[in-house]
Amino acid sequence: MQIDDNYNVELYDLTHRGNPGDVLYYIKACRTASQILELGCGQGRILLPLAENGHCITGLDHHPDMITELQRTINQRQDLDFSKIKLVQGDMRTFQIDRQFDRIILPFNGLFCLLHDNETLACFQQVHQHLKPGGSFLFDVYTVDEEELALVDQEAWEPLTEIHETHRTIEIFERRQWQPETQRVDASYRYRIHEGSEVREEIYTIPQRYLTYSQCRQLLYQARLQITQRYSDFRCSPWEADSYHMLVWAQAA
Ligand SMILES: C[S@@+](CC[C@H](N)C(=O)[O-])C[C@H]1O[C@@H](n2cnc3c(N)ncnc32)[C@H](O)[C@@H]1O
Repeated sequence: MQIDDNYNVELYDLTHRGNPGDVLYYIKACRTASQILELGCGQGRILLPLAENGHCITGLDHHPDMITELQRTINQRQDLDFSKIKLVQGDMRTFQIDRQFDRIILPFNGLFCLLHDNETLACFQQVHQHLKPGGSFLFDVYTVDEEELALVDQEAWEPLTEIHETHRTIEIFERRQWQPETQRVDASYRYRIHEGSEVREEIYTIPQRYLTYSQCRQLLYQARLQITQRYSDFRCSPWEADSYHMLVWAQAA
């Protein structure tokens, strides 16, 4: 996977703020869990609220800056029980942690950071190995409407949002480039940062590979995981094939 080298964790955090209701969804889903593992924990958008609720939680991310930033945030939080939080810099395809978990979560499209079937399968196999008996694996991803994607101008930078801070204004633009044959949607973000009379730009790309529900189910099956629940939104509405999100729960078969 790889977010490219120009990637700046601060700008990433300003742009990728999750989906409405997703934090509460994961809090509820983990309510009875004593040991939680979050794969691709980033800067702790989900991990920190779970830690606030007193869970033992391990966060794994392969990006060193994400782990460093998150550790810095945790160190400043006197309200957290540090003994219950563990951060690991590692790869969700190959991680080895010497414990098992009641919940393993992979929120906010993290699954789509894996660009080939063999990578997704490797991740699912690691999940299988790290789940306690009766434990659940949860992920949420967007679903793709290929007809809609076909209409996107692949070269155009679309305005996404504008952020006003005391000392600067940041205009954020997005460009999506689609390769249907590989199911890749590479999303690039361009930041135009106005600070005083200066204007500078930063750009990075997040390569993603989307999967359909039946592809997810097949790869889970190969890793000896079976789907137990699926929803179409963070209020747990029943699954519909054309819903915008796909929320999956799976257990060891
Ligand atoms: C979309 S972000 C989600 C961050 C956080 N979970 C959230 O909900 O805001 C995906 C995260 O997965 C991490 N990631 C991507 N590929 C990974 C891999 N192979 N192993 C571990 N982490 C990975 C990225 O560095 C990033 O922090």
